[in-house]
Amino acid sequence: MAETLVIPTTTDRKEIYDTLIPQIASLIDGETDLIANLANIAGALKQAFDFFWVGFYLTKNNQLVLGPFQGPIACTRIDFDKGVCGYCYRIQETVLVPDVEQFPGHIACSSDSKSEIVVPIFKDGQVFGVLDVDSNQLNDFSETDKEGLEQIMRLLEKTV
Ligand code: SME
Repeated sequence: MAETLVIPTTTDRKEIYDTLIPQIASLIDGETDLIANLANIAGALKQAFDFFWVGFYLTKNNQLVLGPFQGPIACTRIDFDKGVCGYCYRIQETVLVPDVEQFPGHIACSSDSKSEIVVPIFKDGQVFGVLDVDSNQLNDFSETDKEGLEQIMRLLEKTV
């Protein structure tokens, strides 16, 4: 697989996801190293959408611990009962937060984060981590992102 992403020059996120998803599929296909795949997915999402922060938290010893990411440094550990990430872990569903200031218990790793989406990642029916994407704009995520990012997590799950 060539290490070059082809990203359409459009602001239509659906179109970008449609182009990106098959490329991520071939990028991680046949690679079973979790960290390598998480790192490349974070890189691909940053490159395609220039999200403010995109990365992973993985469950370790009853906490979510920072994994591969792209963007400014972030908090290292999140308790399961804290933040949007902890909430996503508990409800086992994607969480869309249009305005982080309106989300009780939101953890502000950066004051520039304005909206957020967190997607759970499953293995054997259990959440073993989450994908967290932050935007520096309010209300920046929609059903298009939910569908696109969930599809990418389903691809990742096939490799673990
Ligand atoms: N905002 C997240 C914490 C992680 S950072 O945004 C990278 C939360 O509330 O769980």
